Amino acid sequence: MLKVAGLKAGYGRTQVLFGIDLDVRAGEIVTIIGANGAGKTSTLRSISGLTQIYSGEIEFKGRPIKGLPPEEITRLGLAHCPEGRQILQRLTVEENLLAGYIPGRGRSFDEIRTQVYDMFPILKERRHSLASRMSGGQQQMLAIGRSLMATPELLMLDEPSLGLAPKIINQIFEIIITLSKSGISLIVVEQNAAVALEIADYAYVIDAGRCSVEGGANNVLNDPDLKAAYLGA
Ligand SMILES: Nc1ncnc2c1ncn2[C@@H]1O[C@H](COP(=O)(O)OP(=O)(O)OP(=O)(O)O)[C@@H](O)[C@H]1O
Ligand SMILES: [Mg+2]
Repeated sequence: MLKVAGLKAGYGRTQVLFGIDLDVRAGEIVTIIGANGAGKTSTLRSISGLTQIYSGEIEFKGRPIKGLPPEEITRLGLAHCPEGRQILQRLTVEENLLAGYIPGRGRSFDEIRTQVYDMFPILKERRHSLASRMSGGQQQMLAIGRSLMATPELLMLDEPSLGLAPKIINQIFEIIITLSKSGISLIVVEQNAAVALEIADYAYVIDAGRCSVEGGANNVLNDPDLKAAYLGA
């Protein structure tokens, strides 16, 4: 579904990715883990067309997407739920959902909104509230709901559990599993490596802009070196 090969990217003259290779097959949950500043967000932003790419190839559904504008990439079915949620605080819940709607993907705003409200009853209940009045967990749900308004086939979630209480983190991971079961392929970037590895099929560890380790999530979860480095064991 998504293939990234030899991706080098950065910010002007500051290169931060030095050759990222990754592969997401349809229906999989792939997790990307790694230390602060390793390049996880930059990898997702490169895939979405938001970062300057120096070289490498990115293919989505067999089609090269490198260099396409971000909205075009979203329209092809690849959505990005950004780090820090990036909710429009002064708009209502429903206005935020409208902001994520991409026409031309075969489904009306009303149709997808109903589906998002079925999945997140709290968003329906609070649909006319200002986003700024929502808790961190509710804002994360709104961020995911907004991404779903684009009818993604592949959804990239950057740190969905960041700053949330353990109980809410569990809810967010349950939602990720539900999305996966509904047929959406997922990339989940997480600091919370242990939880991410629990739900993922495949994992990549990024270290200083390179993929240092990859493998089945279970193998990575049980790798003694990685345990010491990322899982606090
Ligand atoms: N806009 C920017 N301009 C210049 N350098 C940047 C910019 N954004 C990120 N960087 C640098 O790129 C490198 C990779 O950052 P990135 O945000 O991709 O890492 P990350 O793995 O997502 O980290 P974190 O776990 O903190 O979210 C870091 O050295 C960071 O300082
Ligand atoms: Mg990041």
